[in-house]
Amino acid sequence: MKGIILAGGAGSRLYPLTLVASKQLQPVYDKPMVYYPLTTLIEGGIREFCLISTPHDLPRFRQLLGDGSRFGLTIDYRLQEKPAGIAQAFLIAESFIGKDNVTLILGDNIFYGGEAFGKAFNEFKSGATIFGYHVNDPQRYGVVEFDAQGQALSIEEKPQRPKSNYAVPGLYIYDNQVLEIAAKQRPSARGELEITDVNVAYLRRGQLRVALLARGFAWLDAGTSSSLHEASAYVQTIEKRTGVKIGCPEEAAFRNGFLALAQLEALTAQMPNCEYRDYLEREVVEEARRLDAAGS
Ligand code: DAU
Repeated sequence: MKGIILAGGAGSRLYPLTLVASKQLQPVYDKPMVYYPLTTLIEGGIREFCLISTPHDLPRFRQLLGDGSRFGLTIDYRLQEKPAGIAQAFLIAESFIGKDNVTLILGDNIFYGGEAFGKAFNEFKSGATIFGYHVNDPQRYGVVEFDAQGQALSIEEKPQRPKSNYAVPGLYIYDNQVLEIAAKQRPSARGELEITDVNVAYLRRGQLRVALLARGFAWLDAGTSSSLHEASAYVQTIEKRTGVKIGCPEEAAFRNGFLALAQLEALTAQMPNCEYRDYLEREVVEEARRLDAAGS
């Protein structure tokens, strides 16, 4: 399974913050926003990434994440010249995807809790898997309607009269048919290649699975000033209470076996003295050393 992080767009809703750094580089409490979706996919076992962004912002993502080797990953970078729609990601990343399955995550979607994605990646064989999440304001999202058996009946993009309260979050798992589906797509009335149209194409083929995200699972989008602030407050609350970080790619990479303990130690040793380094040394490196010592 390959992973695409879509981190472009105009960022107009966060102006003037986005004059100097794109939306997905803004801080969500104690780390850049893109760390959260990156960590979500690492936790799901994905190791090969393509990050797509604008000509202006791509160099900054490269500066932040490099070639990925620091996290035990590979990260390719691709340009999206104009925000022509989420589904354009598949055309841009076609050579990266090759013959593989692919997960697309939106760079401003933050998820926390549960095993839903890891399970979905493990169980994924073919077709498409998307998710449904109960929200208060479904008209802002792609909305999925179910029949009495829980089968998806329709998906609509930002409907004025939503047929359910289930929004489709920005994490989508597809088999290789997505390349052919995206290649045939035409722009919508608002001039974009819509991700919802890709999902509708799978639905028409009888190959769309919609998994519901359980209550208690957190899905936050951080696309406006107030949702960005709320996301920061949420992360701070959970981190303070539990002493465990959300969205820490180094930790996720280590726990998934992408980084050996010695590599993580070398990595943390290069960090400046800061709370992020303290956390990795105290909660991850020292704990692993203790477990190693107890086991030997
Ligand atoms: O957040 C989930 C929702 O994301 C879904 O429920 C909707 O079906 C889907 O269309 C999308 O809705 P948004 O209104 O949030 O899409 P937006 O245009 O804000 O784009 C989402 C992210 O993707 C944003 O961080 C910018 C990035 N993006 C978007 C477009 C259209 C790109 O990088 N390139 C693009 O061309």
